[in-house]
Amino acid sequence: MQNNSLDLSPKEFEMLLHEASDLVLQQHADIDNKKAFHYFSQKEIESWFDEPLPRHGMDNSELMALTKEKVLDTATNNLGPYMFAYVMAGGSQMSIIAEKLAATINQNVGKWHLAPAINEIERRVIQWAGEMTGFGNSVGGVLVSGGSAANLTGLIVARNIFFEKYNIREQGLFNMPPFTLYASNEVHGCVDKSIEELGIGTNQLRRIATNADFTINLEALEQAIEKDITEGLTPFCVIGNAGTVNTGAIDDLMALSQIAKKYHLWFHIDGAYGGLVATLPSIKNEYKGMDLADSVAVDFHKWLYSAFEAGCLLVKDWDLLKRTYFKKAAYLDTELEEDKGRLDFNEHHFQLSRNAKALKVWMGLKSYGFERIQKMQQKDIDLTRYLAEQLNEADDFELTSVSHLAIACFRYKGTLTHEEQISSLNQRMIPALEKDGRVFITGTKLKGEFAIRACLINHRMHKGTVDYLIKVVREVGSSLE
Ligand SMILES: Cc1ncc(COP(=O)(O)O)c(C=O)c1O
Repeated sequence: MQNNSLDLSPKEFEMLLHEASDLVLQQHADIDNKKAFHYFSQKEIESWFDEPLPRHGMDNSELMALTKEKVLDTATNNLGPYMFAYVMAGGSQMSIIAEKLAATINQNVGKWHLAPAINEIERRVIQWAGEMTGFGNSVGGVLVSGGSAANLTGLIVARNIFFEKYNIREQGLFNMPPFTLYASNEVHGCVDKSIEELGIGTNQLRRIATNADFTINLEALEQAIEKDITEGLTPFCVIGNAGTVNTGAIDDLMALSQIAKKYHLWFHIDGAYGGLVATLPSIKNEYKGMDLADSVAVDFHKWLYSAFEAGCLLVKDWDLLKRTYFKKAAYLDTELEEDKGRLDFNEHHFQLSRNAKALKVWMGLKSYGFERIQKMQQKDIDLTRYLAEQLNEADDFELTSVSHLAIACFRYKGTLTHEEQISSLNQRMIPALEKDGRVFITGTKLKGEFAIRACLINHRMHKGTVDYLIKVVREVGSSLE
C-alpha cells in the first residue's frame, strides 16, 4: 500500500536495508576468488538498461534483485585485490557505513547551519590533511570530488590571488599579456584541462623535460622561465608532482619551492597520487618542501582508501579561498546569524550545495587511526618492490620503471627479442587481459614506449595477489605470442 509520500512502510524499509546490507557482505565475501573484470560488450550492457522512463514504480524486491544481478555482480571489482589499473584504492568498509549514514541525514555542506557537525568535521579533516601531507598546521581548504577538481581549484586560487591586483574576477583575462605555467611533461592531464577551463590555454603550459627517473629537470625549468621573462611573458605558477600518475615520480619539491621563490611564482603541488604518503617514515625525505607550497591537491579516495569521491585542496589560509570565491547573495547572507565563528563553504568554493564527503574520511581516520593506514601504505610500497623483484628475476619480463611509490611499469617479452614485436605484443595484451578478467591492468607510455602499468594501492593486496598478477599476465602474454 502506498502512502502519500515516497516513504516505504517501516517494515519494508527495514527489510530493504537488511537486503542492502546482505549485498554489501556478499561483495566482501571470498574476495580473493573473485574476478577483477566481467567482460560484456558495451551493446549488451546498454541493452540491460534500454527502456523508456518508468512512469510507474516496480516491486522493490525485484528491483533489488535486478540491481544485484546487473549492477553489483557485474561491477568492475575495484574492491578486490586484483585491481592494478589506474589508481583504484579499493575503498574501506568504514566508508560504506559512513556513506549510508551521510545519505540518511542528507546534509548540504554549503552553509554552516545546514550541516553544523559535518561542517566542523570537514574543517577538522582539512586540518588533518595538512598534518598527513606535511603541508602544515595552518591550513584552509575544501573537499572536492577528487584530484582533478582539487588541482583545478588550486589553480583557480593561484590565478585569482596572483592577479588580484588586476581585478580579474570582474575584468576577466581580456587585454592581459599571456601568463605562463610550468610543470614536467609527466604532469597529469587534469592540469591541462584545468588550464583550458581557466581560459589560460595549454599553449601557456611549459612542459618541462624530465630526468631519467621521470622527475622534472630543474635546469630546463629555469631556462624556460628565463626565456619567457626575456620574451615579455609573465611566469606565474610552477606545478610540482608529488607522485606522477605514470610512474610515481616525486619532483624535487624543495628545489621547486626555491625556484618559485626566486621568480615570485605560485607553487602548486599535485599530490593527488602521492600526497598522503608524504609523512610515511620510510619515504618522507623524498617529500621535503611540501610545506613550502602555496597549494596542494590531495585525494582521499586514493591513498587514504576512502570510497569515491573525496579529494581535497589545501591552501595556507582560508582567506585565500574567500578572496577567490566569495559572492554576496541576499538569500545566503549570514549577517543575521549571531555566531560569527561559523564558516560557510559556499563562500570558499564554487559549489553551493555540497554533500558530506568528510564523514567517510573522518570515520575512516577515527576508526583505523592514521598509523594503521600508514601500515597499509607501506605494505603497498613493499608489495610493489616485491613485484619489481619478481619481474627483474624473470627472463620473460622486463621492468621499465619503479619509483619510491606503488607503481611499477613493465613489459612481457616471452621469447621475443625484437623491440617492435615486444611493443606490439604488450599493446595486444591489454584488451586480452580485460577479456580474461582475472586481473585488471592497463598500460601507459614512458618516454614514448608502451608499457604495462601496475598500481598497487589497495589495502587488500598481499604477496599472493602479486604472484597471481604475474601468472595471469604470463599466461595471457604467451597465448598471444
Ligand atoms: C597525479 C594525479 N593527479 C591527478 C589525478 C586525478 O585525480 P582524480 O581521478 O581523483 O580526479 C590523478 C589520478 O590518478 C593522479 O594520479
